[in-house]
Amino acid sequence: MLADNKGLLAMDESTPTANKRLEARHIPPTEAARLAWRRLIVTAPGLSEGIGGAILYDETIRQTLADGSPIAKALADYGIIPGIKVDASTVPLPNHSGEVMTEGPDGLRKRLQEYKSMGARFTKWRAVINIGSGLPSRAAIDTNAQTLALYAAFCQEADLVPIVEPEVLMDGDHSLQRCAEVTTEVLHSVFDRLYRMGVDYGGMILKPNMVLSGKASAVQAGIDEVAEATVTCLLRTVPASVGGVAFLSGGQTPDQATLHLNAMHRDYGKLLPWPLTFSFSRAVQQPAMDAWAGKEANTAEAQRLLTTYTNRNRVARQGAYQDETA
Ligand code: G3H
Repeated sequence: MLADNKGLLAMDESTPTANKRLEARHIPPTEAARLAWRRLIVTAPGLSEGIGGAILYDETIRQTLADGSPIAKALADYGIIPGIKVDASTVPLPNHSGEVMTEGPDGLRKRLQEYKSMGARFTKWRAVINIGSGLPSRAAIDTNAQTLALYAAFCQEADLVPIVEPEVLMDGDHSLQRCAEVTTEVLHSVFDRLYRMGVDYGGMILKPNMVLSGKASAVQAGIDEVAEATVTCLLRTVPASVGGVAFLSGGQTPDQATLHLNAMHRDYGKLLPWPLTFSFSRAVQQPAMDAWAGKEANTAEAQRLLTTYTNRNRVARQGAYQDETA
């Protein structure tokens, strides 16, 4: 799935998130629009050059292309392994204002069987950690780490590869250093719980945030600082036997996300014990969705942009991306 310097495409936006992205571009947030966008992605010529696996959402795995072929089957036919988001999104963590936990372990064993019968070969579960005054709490870190581990164990039991996504958000005015401390703490806890739960590290993929300055911080770390802080954090916390590491983009611009990935490979590529790649949603979909704007006539241009941005990250995975804006 991560071979040939490829990455993963996150196209697993929940219905509310997908609708928000459509509305931001003045596209009516209907099921038809969501389907049109997802068909555009799946049929983009050359998508499989840079993408080895695509993460779907429950609605999408039940949808078909215009010719009636199920989206999961169409992806597989194009050489892209289909996966599925299996968490049920976040809810407030009791007694902990400003913090969340992810719902979804109830009935998971049964849902995994259904998704597998529909063609999914891997899964994703996202946990969210906020940085703030006094946050994150120990309770938030422990609860989310435990739930991620339980999810991963259920998936391996079902012979599905789990993507374990503990996302430390960029929101806030915290420093790069603070993000590094929190991400380190979270990853230590996640691997501790995965170990106790008997999860095989070789049969899972970690989907972490990069270590970044908070979005509202007056001091924004540069590309090289982010690369160094992120690689340092991962080398300290992620066992060498983990099958792969695939970043989320988390609200970075497409250029930022690509330049950060590129710098990590250019400067530290030889130190990395695992394949280090991307599993972006916004950082590869944004330019294409802007160009599409809900109009069929713009499909070809949107598809061209989608593959341009996915292929840039494939080059960044080799540390060979040249910044066209520099
Ligand atoms: O869960 C989040 C997605 O899988 C990644 O989305 O790249 O826009 O952060 P993002």
